[in-house]
Amino acid sequence: MRQAHVKIAYHIPVLRDDVLEFLVTEPRGVYVDGTLGGGGHAGRIIERIYPNGTLVGIDADADALKAAKNTLQRFTSNLIFVHDNNANIRAILQALNISTISGLLLDLGVSSFQLDEAGKGFSFRADDALDMRMDRRQSLDARAIINTYSGEQLADVLWKFGEERNSRRIARDIVDCRGTKEIGTTGELAAIIGKRVHEPFLTKTLARVFQALRIEVNNELSSLARTLGDAMGFLASGGRIVVISYHSLEDRIVKNFFQEKSAKSIPSGHKLVPDVPVIPLLRVLTKKPIVASREEQISNPRSRSAKMRVAEKI
Ligand SMILES: C[S@@+](CC[C@H](N)C(=O)[O-])C[C@H]1O[C@@H](n2cnc3c(N)ncnc32)[C@H](O)[C@@H]1O
Repeated sequence: MRQAHVKIAYHIPVLRDDVLEFLVTEPRGVYVDGTLGGGGHAGRIIERIYPNGTLVGIDADADALKAAKNTLQRFTSNLIFVHDNNANIRAILQALNISTISGLLLDLGVSSFQLDEAGKGFSFRADDALDMRMDRRQSLDARAIINTYSGEQLADVLWKFGEERNSRRIARDIVDCRGTKEIGTTGELAAIIGKRVHEPFLTKTLARVFQALRIEVNNELSSLARTLGDAMGFLASGGRIVVISYHSLEDRIVKNFFQEKSAKSIPSGHKLVPDVPVIPLLRVLTKKPIVASREEQISNPRSRSAKMRVAEKI
């Protein structure tokens, strides 16, 4: 099923120039790239802040760190690589004795490399073991979810994280099939769904189901909320949070977080009681999310769904 192709790059960084323009305000500062990937964005950031600034690059995937270390060799004196979930940003920065950062970048989801690489199981376009763990040290993988969650739990995951309208029926099909034999591969899962849903709807359904499983395996939405919340305690005044998201569930979390932290009052919830004034902590710099130009969308299809939001600590 996998197409033979020449691998051009680990991953083409999305909205690269916009990220740089918004993120780097202090060339002597400490920046955190919480989703280092192949180091595409990181390379541009470090070029901008070298030799006085520092970049902490975090990734949950050991292969991503290996690739980034390779790409960024020239700058290693100003780079700190961390193999961890960015949700642990507080513990990570504390362990490095870093109390203030000038910016945080989150370029969410998985890289092209992770989608293409055999054995990771993120893509329905290849027949791989059902895995989907960014961090191979964790025990929960997609195989465990597919084979041990109850039908109701499975349907909830598909609905909540994939917004899949056929969630109940697909969950029932999965439970029926695994009754005779464990479901072990992405191909087997895709075939079960293919019996229920046909083209022209199948590809989009598969994309939603695989997205939902990936989010559940890697606890992506809770991690995002925690990373944003904990980063606030480290962000210097004038420091920026830049987030690129690729689906509405992520984008909603970012948008709501920025809205909440930039609010000047909390609604009392009652017509006769005045709203409670609060001191805003963030200023939102992107009233509407930034999206990729037409040229970028043509040259890098992955950028089509990207939405970038930026906020600055007051
Ligand atoms: C879209 S890629 C980033 C690509 C990168 N900006 C570049 O230009 O090469 C997302 C990366 O973030 C990592 N990742 C996603 N969520 C994470 C999390 N919560 N903690 C740590 N790493 C995460 C993935 O393993 C993946 O390598």
